[in-house]
Amino acid sequence: MRISVIGCGYLGAVHAACMAELGHDVVGIDVDEHRVAELSAGRAPFFEPGLPDVLSRALATGRLRFTTDMAAAAEATVHFVAVGTPQTKGSFNADLTYVDAAVQGLLPYLGEGDLVVGKSTVPVGTAARLAGVVEGAGAGATLAWNPEFLREGFAVRDTVAPDRFVYGVPQGDAGERATAVLDEVYATALATGTPRIVTDYATAELVKVSANAFLATKISFINAMAEIAEATGADVTQLADAIGHDARIGRRFLNAGLGFGGGCLPKDIRAFRARADELGLADTLSFLGEVDAINLRRRERVVTLTRELVGDLEGATIGVLGLAFKPDSDDVRDSPALDVVKKLVEAGANVTAYDPEANETATRSLPSLVTAGSAADAVRGADAVLVLTEWREFRDLVPAEVKALVSRAVVVDGRNCLDADAWRAEGFVLRGLGRP
Ligand code: UGA
Repeated sequence: MRISVIGCGYLGAVHAACMAELGHDVVGIDVDEHRVAELSAGRAPFFEPGLPDVLSRALATGRLRFTTDMAAAAEATVHFVAVGTPQTKGSFNADLTYVDAAVQGLLPYLGEGDLVVGKSTVPVGTAARLAGVVEGAGAGATLAWNPEFLREGFAVRDTVAPDRFVYGVPQGDAGERATAVLDEVYATALATGTPRIVTDYATAELVKVSANAFLATKISFINAMAEIAEATGADVTQLADAIGHDARIGRRFLNAGLGFGGGCLPKDIRAFRARADELGLADTLSFLGEVDAINLRRRERVVTLTRELVGDLEGATIGVLGLAFKPDSDDVRDSPALDVVKKLVEAGANVTAYDPEANETATRSLPSLVTAGSAADAVRGADAVLVLTEWREFRDLVPAEVKALVSRAVVVDGRNCLDADAWRAEGFVLRGLGRP
């Protein structure tokens, strides 16, 4: 199939490369010239395991190209809209400027029978509105909404072999045609039995935001248990293991620690609440306010713990390991780790931080940040070491080697990812979150 992908960020770049890998002819379109140049040269503009390989393989086949010229969409019959929907400054609402601009920009290049496929995460009701825009243009194109569930760090795998497909389509013949087109796009994964749910626009939009709201709630639930554990001397990790054995609960996404960040979960729960407010259902999703609050409190907790361990933060030397919002990513959008660093610096601490991939992105977002080129350099002379992102490199640290570098043997494990016994055996005072 001939496909255009509008927006080549975390979602679109991966989608474009993977669609070409699956055999489609793909043009990725983005307004950012630098990003287009990087992608055209086979370089991923962000860290995503496996993406550079898929990019270079797909570029070599000639089936993938990138451009800033929207007119290139005219060659395609299926158009994926994969632009960002960040949180609006000063409010909880999703900013739909980029989605609206992408759809408007596409209109002149749509032909009879074309399918515009929304992948961006949007407030419920957006697809119905945009369907009016697409149909109103009179080119004979249809809109479908096909939310994306990929996780950063696993984006290639999640795109090529997702858990499920969700198609939000209009009723009647247009919906059947849209379904058939999407089935052809995703034929490879469907052939392996990947579940596919065909539904209306509103359900498709809600599947996406409710999935993220559920995941965020699960994380905040266990972090609330961590708060209780801290007050009672219980161990939240053992608690998670024990309740996780109940298949109805499940152990995944029950890791207590510094909580969730990134470009999706935080802004999606806020936008979902904002949308519920607009629908006159503020009470229905008010619990997401608690989910958000519990999550943000964990960041304060790490700062408090550090203060408890080192005494005054003013003038303390802190070695921070991890800046990305999660391992295997260089993404620092709403990163809990970076937030903790900011709070420590505000309290007067001298922070040196190291992340295997996110030093650069973090410095872009916090220019005053002091980074080190290695974990060893970050912890040298530290009064406390804080592990804030659970990269394998940090989980594998050898306590004796760290002890030889630090000024005081103090560790705060913000992700409950270290072998506490091994660190304590080496003489470290180690504190986790929700652990005795
Ligand atoms: C999330 C969803 O997991 C994807 O399904 C969704 O497609 C994506 O958002 C999106 O909307 O685009 P992602 O943001 O890549 O994916 O990250 P997650 O793996 O969900 O992790 C989010 C945050 O939760 C991270 O900061 C992570 O450290 C934290 N987390 C995760 C915990 O604190 N505890 C856990 O048990 C799991």
